Amino acid sequence: MTATVNPTDPRLMGRSVHRIAFAPEAIALRVAELGREITAAYPEGDLLMLGLLKGSFIFLADLARAVQRPAQLDFIVASSYGSGTVSSGTVRLLYDPETPLKDKHILLVEDIVDSGRTLQCLVDLLQARKPRSLEICALLHKRIATELTHDARFVGFDAPNEFLVGYGLDHAEQFRHLPYIASLA
Ligand code: IMP
Ligand code: MG
Repeated sequence: MTATVNPTDPRLMGRSVHRIAFAPEAIALRVAELGREITAAYPEGDLLMLGLLKGSFIFLADLARAVQRPAQLDFIVASSYGSGTVSSGTVRLLYDPETPLKDKHILLVEDIVDSGRTLQCLVDLLQARKPRSLEICALLHKRIATELTHDARFVGFDAPNEFLVGYGLDHAEQFRHLPYIASLA
């Protein structure tokens, strides 16, 4: 897949792209496939797609439109306790979905699984609400998580172990609006 990036893309704020990991066309094709996979995986029952903000917002917007069965959409906002760039392994909810989870198929939609700690905590927390099922759909998976007891069932792409931005993913709240996913030089 050839990706064209304008080296003077003003969205890059003077940074340059080291590598385009996933071009818009590749993302669109894979998201359409994921939509078909998810549609087939849930033949019946109430499906609630829960987007983990903020990173999943663009992915969820595209994915939701690729799912060809009834679904509800809501969001979840989680915050790691403590500071720092490495997730601490404990999360609290800053926004809790208004929609009841009980007896629904819950599909937690994530931007990227890195250490997997955020996901692990959220899974424990959401399981306590007694959903009918709980699965994870992650756009990207670095495949370095060792602590996951409940891994993502739906994965867009295996990702390189680099810090990626774009298509919702940020670095210090920048670059979320890039239409491609890249690592910065
Ligand atoms: P984990 O708990 O280590 O799996 O971290 C997951 C969260 O960290 C993701 O939901 C992202 O918000 C963020 N994150 C992890 N890796 C990256 C990356 O390469 N780029 C941007 N955000 C990332
Ligand atoms: Mg982030």
